[in-house]
Amino acid sequence: MESKEKLYLLDLVAQYQTIKPDIDAAIEKVVSTGGFILGKTVEEFEAAVAAYVGVKHGIGVNSGTDALYLALRAAGVGPGDEVITTPFTFIATAEVITWIPAKPVFVDVCPDTLNIDPSKIEAAITPKTKAIMPVHIYGQAADMDEITAVAQKHKLKVIEDCAQSLGAGYRGRQTGSMGHIAGLSFFPSKNLGAYGDGGMILTSDEAMLKECRVLRQHGSDRKYHHVKIGVNSRLDALQAAVLNVKLKHLEKWNDARREKAAYYDRAFKGVGDIRTPEVRPYNRMIYHQYTLRTAKRDAMIEHLNKSGVPNAVHYPIPLHLQPAFGFLGQAKGAFPEAEAAAGQVFSLPIYPEITAGQQDRVVEAISKFF
Ligand SMILES: Cc1ncc(COP(=O)(O)O)c(C=O)c1O
Repeated sequence: MESKEKLYLLDLVAQYQTIKPDIDAAIEKVVSTGGFILGKTVEEFEAAVAAYVGVKHGIGVNSGTDALYLALRAAGVGPGDEVITTPFTFIATAEVITWIPAKPVFVDVCPDTLNIDPSKIEAAITPKTKAIMPVHIYGQAADMDEITAVAQKHKLKVIEDCAQSLGAGYRGRQTGSMGHIAGLSFFPSKNLGAYGDGGMILTSDEAMLKECRVLRQHGSDRKYHHVKIGVNSRLDALQAAVLNVKLKHLEKWNDARREKAAYYDRAFKGVGDIRTPEVRPYNRMIYHQYTLRTAKRDAMIEHLNKSGVPNAVHYPIPLHLQPAFGFLGQAKGAFPEAEAAAGQVFSLPIYPEITAGQQDRVVEAISKFF
């Protein structure tokens, strides 16, 4: 009997083993010099990410959630404003809008990419609309040309939620470089993941840069001089040191994810009613998630759990139907594409180090189900 490798949804320990000497040295350097808050290590990483994406500035913060919250404030979104976004995303996207406190206005998604449907945005615009916040879900870019055109027509700011999309491309441009400002997440499971929480704001706008730097440090423009109420949200130097090592591998890791995704795509062709991820030809997808669809999703999850195949549902409930957003008063049926996807999607193990043997076991389990 062949030996069976254990399956993981994501194997961060395997990744660490491939870069251990560089990571250990980078951590040691920070610890031995005692510079833990901002400083050179963080600045180096901010500059490296900004250069990679093709924007002028990066501002390292505590998390992707904070990056989006501060990006909204820097973009001038204020109390009572409305921000148009997708209901098919992680809650942080819309949660931060309510922190302003502004109102999230949801627009349904495209049935193929599950990104916000740009043809439906204009109907959601009111005199209170201040910004559009597209999410590049699973690592595939939203329709930025169409979104930018609507935003320009109505003088709205575009805030890209790039929490899942660092390295993803759209018509030759990188996500995070196409709006006025963007937020990245370095949550450990992200394609570029820290060893804890972390995030970054990206912008080429000098005024927004200044505002973000002030906001992340208690609203101070210099020590003990506070020009506004801000927050404490700084990227740790230790995380920046780790991430700086990992950033050099990101392109290679994203290439590997694409290869693994292609392997699954071939294997799932014609299997049951499986719908593999649909990637537009002009998009460079980075497969933060490899997410399939089937009408028998719940039974499939039960089967995968019994078969020992790790899986996840991104996301089981669209945001307008989450109890937390009940105050918006949106009933079932408001966004049919997002609701249909929420009932059908499931994600499989995908990461650069996954082996063909491990993928074969996943494929075998799914084939058996049908
Ligand atoms: C689409 C999206 N937006 C925002 C976030 C928030 O990022 P973080 O967990 O770093 O706060 C995440 C991820 O967790 C996400 O997937």
